Amino acid sequence: SAPEQWAEVDRYFIDSLVKEDPALAATRESSGETLFPGIDVAPNMGAFLGLLVQLTGAKRILEIGTLAGYSAIWMARAAGSDAQITTCELEATNAKVAQENFEHAGVADRVQIRRGPAAETLQQLIAEQPEPFDLVFIDADKRSNPTYLKSAVSLSRPGTAILIDNTVRQGQVVQADSENPDVLGTRQLIADIAADGRLTGTALQTVGLKGWDGFTLVRVS
Ligand code: DHB
Ligand code: MG
Repeated sequence: SAPEQWAEVDRYFIDSLVKEDPALAATRESSGETLFPGIDVAPNMGAFLGLLVQLTGAKRILEIGTLAGYSAIWMARAAGSDAQITTCELEATNAKVAQENFEHAGVADRVQIRRGPAAETLQQLIAEQPEPFDLVFIDADKRSNPTYLKSAVSLSRPGTAILIDNTVRQGQVVQADSENPDVLGTRQLIADIAADGRLTGTALQTVGLKGWDGFTLVRVS
């Protein structure tokens, strides 16, 4: 079937191109100890995040949705030892697993977990008036994507990249009459990007290990 072929192609690319050291492999496996096993980014998406960090030269990175820390480790390693990664996580269980993974992966020096509802954490961050972030990765509860985008833009500078994961919803994103809050949140996100003159965005569909998925990439001007 098509989905099995999609997974097989992902495995081929991952086996060919993606080098996971034992700490990254252990982190991916430890997602089984979080509240949402297996929803981490796929290894080839982790490598994509690392490349995006290096291509943009991002040093100040904000992540919304830590889970076990798999995507944060990819970004933290790519960004180097002088980088600062702030990652927001609601669940104490996930945060504890992630902190151990950051230590094991040798990036705990540059990654700070902020535990709590991300919408509140982001308001606190905005109040702190930090240096703007270079790159934001939004990968948490999809119904809150419009809120997270707004905060991400507030914490940005001209040229900041914002990447939002999982914006295809197995194709349901086209269902204008959907009552699924995750679909509604994603459709509102797309509408908000389109309506904001400061934002240039595009979205791509992907197929692979995680099925019919995709992401949206935005540049702030
Ligand atoms: C879901 C969330 C994710 O971050 C992901 O990568 C896949 C699925 C979800 O909530 O359905
Ligand atoms: Mg995701």
